[in-house]
Amino acid sequence: MEIAVRTAQSEPSRIKSLLEQELGFGRIFADQMFCMRYTEGTGWRDPEIVPYGPLPLMPSAMVFHYGQEIFEGQKAYRRADGRIAMFRPEANAARFNSSARRMVMPEIPVDVQVRATLQLVGCLREWVPEPPSALYIRPTMIASEAALGVRPAKEYIYFIIGSPVGPYFPKGFAPVRVKAEGHYVRAAEGGTGAAKTGGNYAGALRAQTDAKNEGYDAILWLDAKHHRYIEEIGAMNILFVFEGKLITSPLLGTILPGITRESLLRMARDEGRPVEERRMSIEEVTAGIEKGTLTEAFGAGTAAVVTPIGTIGWAGKDYVIGGNKPGPFTQHIYDTLTGIQCGKVKDPYGWVRTIE
Ligand code: PLP
Ligand code: COI
Repeated sequence: MEIAVRTAQSEPSRIKSLLEQELGFGRIFADQMFCMRYTEGTGWRDPEIVPYGPLPLMPSAMVFHYGQEIFEGQKAYRRADGRIAMFRPEANAARFNSSARRMVMPEIPVDVQVRATLQLVGCLREWVPEPPSALYIRPTMIASEAALGVRPAKEYIYFIIGSPVGPYFPKGFAPVRVKAEGHYVRAAEGGTGAAKTGGNYAGALRAQTDAKNEGYDAILWLDAKHHRYIEEIGAMNILFVFEGKLITSPLLGTILPGITRESLLRMARDEGRPVEERRMSIEEVTAGIEKGTLTEAFGAGTAAVVTPIGTIGWAGKDYVIGGNKPGPFTQHIYDTLTGIQCGKVKDPYGWVRTIE
C-alpha cells in the first residue's frame, strides 16, 4: 500500500508558537491527516495524507443516525535524543479491529494501520511537544454511506488526526475526585463496553455532567447487573493497591481492555508485586479505605497516563485515599511508564517504536 502525501510540510516557526500556548486536551489540531475510503466489494482505497479539514459527508451518512463509529487513542512522544516514539501501536491497531468486528465494520490489517500512523506522525514530527505533553493520535472509522436503513453500512471513511495535548486532567499528576455511580451504567454484559465506540461515551455524558456539577472530575462505573462491582473510569481503567497487591477489574467484556492497564500489570508482575484481576465491590473498596488496607488508587489510560485518585464519592460520602496524595507505587509506576515512553528508562519489552 503506497500512501500518497498531498500536503506540504508545515512552517516550523508557526507550529512552535502554537505549541507554546496552554495545550489542554484536544483543542488544537495538527494541519495534516491520514485518510482512506472503503466500499464493500472493492475494499480500502486511496490512502493519503492530506490537509486537516472538513470531510464531505451527506446528512444521511449512517454515522449520524445510528452511530456506527469506532476510534482509538495513542500518543507520539518526543524523546530527549530528539527522536519521536510511539508506544505499542500494534496493540492499538489490534484493538481497533476488535472494535470493528463488534460494530460490524471492515477491519484494516494491523500493518496497514501502523504504517499509516507512523508515516503521518513522521510528517507531523514538528507538532510533537516536549514531555509531559505529547501528540495525541486519534484514528477513527465512520459509516459514510448515505442511507437510513438500520444495517451495517457499505461505505466507510478511516482517518487519523493528531492533536498536541497537555495533561487530560487540568491539574496534571495530582489526585482526582471520582464519583462511584449507583444509578446510571456504562456497559452491560453482552453490550459494547469492550469496544471503543462513540456511543459508550455519549451514553456516559449525563452521569459525567451531573458528577462534574457535584464537584467530581470523573465517574467510577459500577457493573450494570448488581450496581456493585468496580469496572472503570470514564476514560481510563482503575487499579488499586490493596493489602500490598495490585488489583484491577478483570476483562469480562464490559470494560475497555486498556493498553496502559495491560502494560502496568506486566511491569508490576515483573517487579515481583502480586497482581490480581478480580472483581472488587464498592463496599470492599470503601471499607478498605476506612481500614487503611486500600492504600492507593489510580486511573490508567493513554490520555490520562497514570492519574492518582484521591477521593471516591459513594452514597453521599467522600472516601479519601492515602491522605489525598499520590501513593509511592502510583508515583513509581508513573515514572517508569513515562520513562519508557520518553526513552529515559530502558524498555525491556520492545514496546517503543521510534520514528527516524
Ligand atoms: N477505558 C476507557 C473507557 C477509555 O476510553 C480508555 C482510553 O483509551 C481506557 C480505558 C484506557 O485505555 P488505553 O490504556 O488503551 O488508553
Ligand atoms: C484515551 O486515553 O485515548 C482515550 O480515549 C480517552 C478519551 C476518550 C479522551
